[in-house]
Amino acid sequence: MAVIALKCPSIEVAVVDISKSRIAAWNSDQLPIYEPGLDGVVKQCRGKNLFFSTDVEKHVFEADIVFVSVNTPTKTRGLGAGKAADLTYWESAARMIADVSKSDKIVVEKSTVPVKTAEAIEKILTHNGKGIKFQILSNPEFLAEGTAIQDLFNPDRVLIGGRETPEGRKAIQTLKDVYAHWVPEERILTTNLWSAELSKLAANAFLAQRISSVNAMSALCEATGANVTQVSYAVGTDTRIGPKFLNASVGFGGSCFQKDILNLVYICECNGLPEVAEYWKQVIKINDYQKSRFVNRVVSSMFNTVATKKIAILGFAFKKDTGDTRETPAIDVCKGLLGDKARLSIYDPQVTEDQIQRDLWMNKFDWDHPIHLQPTSPTTEKKVSVVWDAYEATKDADGVCILTEWDEFKTLDYQKVYDNMRKPAFIFDGRNIVNVEKLREIGFIVYSIGKPLDPWLKDMPAVA
Ligand code: UGA
Repeated sequence: MAVIALKCPSIEVAVVDISKSRIAAWNSDQLPIYEPGLDGVVKQCRGKNLFFSTDVEKHVFEADIVFVSVNTPTKTRGLGAGKAADLTYWESAARMIADVSKSDKIVVEKSTVPVKTAEAIEKILTHNGKGIKFQILSNPEFLAEGTAIQDLFNPDRVLIGGRETPEGRKAIQTLKDVYAHWVPEERILTTNLWSAELSKLAANAFLAQRISSVNAMSALCEATGANVTQVSYAVGTDTRIGPKFLNASVGFGGSCFQKDILNLVYICECNGLPEVAEYWKQVIKINDYQKSRFVNRVVSSMFNTVATKKIAILGFAFKKDTGDTRETPAIDVCKGLLGDKARLSIYDPQVTEDQIQRDLWMNKFDWDHPIHLQPTSPTTEKKVSVVWDAYEATKDADGVCILTEWDEFKTLDYQKVYDNMRKPAFIFDGRNIVNVEKLREIGFIVYSIGKPLDPWLKDMPAVA
């Protein structure tokens, strides 16, 4: 919305939320999320044509277009638990829009939703709208965190789905005109509602599938002595495949991939397509396998036990340049190591101690609910300390796990790290960012995903 405000000075954008503290943060100098470049955009427009407010009803009443981007968590109870999207927040937003509206409006689905959600929303609006006409559009978002601003400035495509009626087409055109302020016409795709909704789930499923494919290869590389970086380079130079999104890792994280695939799986099952559901489920299974494989590598290398050993965790966010920890692989890796009674010292340049402690105590899927509904963590958890410096985290440690590819981890003084660790000193690189040869010269025992194994690890089991 900040980018729309920046690119369309003639449009007034009001961002509303019921959370007072969140809106206060958006109105302050310290924005509530870390996203490179976002501060600058907000500062340029805030108070001119970009406003943050808790007066939800007033702004909805005044708006011509309402973008709805509420959470759509995975259901934890009842029908479809563990897979289906929970549309509670969406439904109450739609009821509120119907309640306060006195003029026709375009309602845009911005949150990622299951296919055919628009139909349900349309029903709520038309049955409660007292004769007011609503047009529903699906306009899924494709930005990635950490690069959100540049993705929005220069999107591969903008997708708008709507009804194939004269009113539907008019609504599509209205939204198209907004994006046309800065996005070339040929990159604004228009489809029917269901295609737009499904394309969003499909795009994330394809992206996640590439990572699970390369991660599956990484296991085979370790078993055979091939190097996954060389394999993915060789594969990616085929122009039909392309080089992006082929980095082997400890697993993908983030708020979308797993959730969207689970959603896709559920939709397939509901439509009587168990084979298709099974196919996509495998992408998540490989991701879980990759995380537990990593934990097993750590434990088996360190004489099959990490009990009471100090392990430094470098990076907790799900990727670099974000403070976001939703579904980060670090949660499962840390839980796995704690399950083996390790002591963890965690450092991430953007994640707070409070967040880390909460993540390590939270149940699966709780993160997608408002913060007051999340369980609080016990105040003192002796096995996990969170520090503000990589050297502090690695001091007297037996092993180091790199779980996020922050640039600063590439340029650490590893000789200094080594000198201050207990020996033998281990490094487990879950992001393939360190120079393995150099670290071995220093004296480290190094495991790097999908790379030829250190002789130390050769006969140790990777799978439990
Ligand atoms: C993803 C999609 O890339 C966006 O297009 C989409 O809009 C967004 O989800 C969404 O639906 O909101 P995001 O989750 O922000 O974006 O981040 P990604 O860059 O896709 O990374 C996801 C995870 O995959 C991270 O944990 C990352 O480290 C991992 N990854 C990515 C790999 O392990 N290897 C790769 O080659 C690329």
